[in-house]
Amino acid sequence: MNEPAISIRNVTQRYEGSGASGAVLAIDEVSLDIRKGEFVCLLGPSGCGKSTLLNIIGGLFRPTSGTCTVAGRLVDGEPHPDQIAFVFQESTLFPWYTVIENFRIALKFKGIAKSEWDDRAMRALKSVGMASFAQSYPDQLSVGMRQRVNMARGICVETDILLMDEPFAALDEQTRMVLGEDLSQLLAATGKTIVFVTHSLAEAVFLSDRIVVMTARPGRIKTIIDVNEPHPRSPDFMLEPRFSELRNECYSLLRDEIRATVAAQRDPQGADA
Ligand SMILES: Nc1ncnc2c1ncn2[C@@H]1O[C@H](COP(=O)(O)OP(=O)(O)O)[C@@H](O)[C@H]1O
Ligand SMILES: [Mg+2]
Repeated sequence: MNEPAISIRNVTQRYEGSGASGAVLAIDEVSLDIRKGEFVCLLGPSGCGKSTLLNIIGGLFRPTSGTCTVAGRLVDGEPHPDQIAFVFQESTLFPWYTVIENFRIALKFKGIAKSEWDDRAMRALKSVGMASFAQSYPDQLSVGMRQRVNMARGICVETDILLMDEPFAALDEQTRMVLGEDLSQLLAATGKTIVFVTHSLAEAVFLSDRIVVMTARPGRIKTIIDVNEPHPRSPDFMLEPRFSELRNECYSLLRDEIRATVAAQRDPQGADA
């Protein structure tokens, strides 16, 4: 009965012939179960394969080996748009359409009945406080507002699973935190399962039920940290000693991995020097 929302089994991804050094082993034998309604962050140094893992879950391509199943259905390089929506860092809104027109396109693409488009769009915009900007064009909005809209567009298709790849990376710290609160509200209200990639330790602790700390490339799971705090979370959580403790724990786990990544970038022969 309690089948995981996402089940990743021994997933390995090797990119053939990329760069001067030939094949790149991006992720190595990653296994992870994600429960329904769980918020999981992937945290790890740049280039450790976080986006690769997220894209495999989303069915954007098939891994070199291993499997991923979503609600019991095998994902084998086949997107499941009825179950999964993506939100990326860069706003992918069409600039020549208004906000609501952008949502209609997304909903049409997902095969949602036309009679539902505007209701869904407005519900999602309301959930991020952007309902009054439905008729605006993307370039009439600030970067932060655009990213709110971008997030709402991922929400409006009302899938059970949302995959978010550094969605707030281009935003200032304050805006990120407000959007983080919105996301925590959404999680509490809808019971969605969210897999979220971030570089920010504070963001990971603030949002996650579990933080998956990854190693330097090839990405493996180093440790999983539980954050026992109900959603929706308030900024008060950040003032608790437990918050700093968790953040420091993440940092000390990551430090060696970041060093390994930087060393490998300096010395193309490897990180052993
Ligand atoms: N399409 C691709 N072709 C070749 N190499 C890739 C491709 N995508 C990613 N990589 C390489 O795989 C590694 C992991 O990349 P990525 O998953 O984007 O890491 P992260 O999101 O953690 O920064 C990096 O070394 C990257 O250069
Ligand atoms: Mg990435």
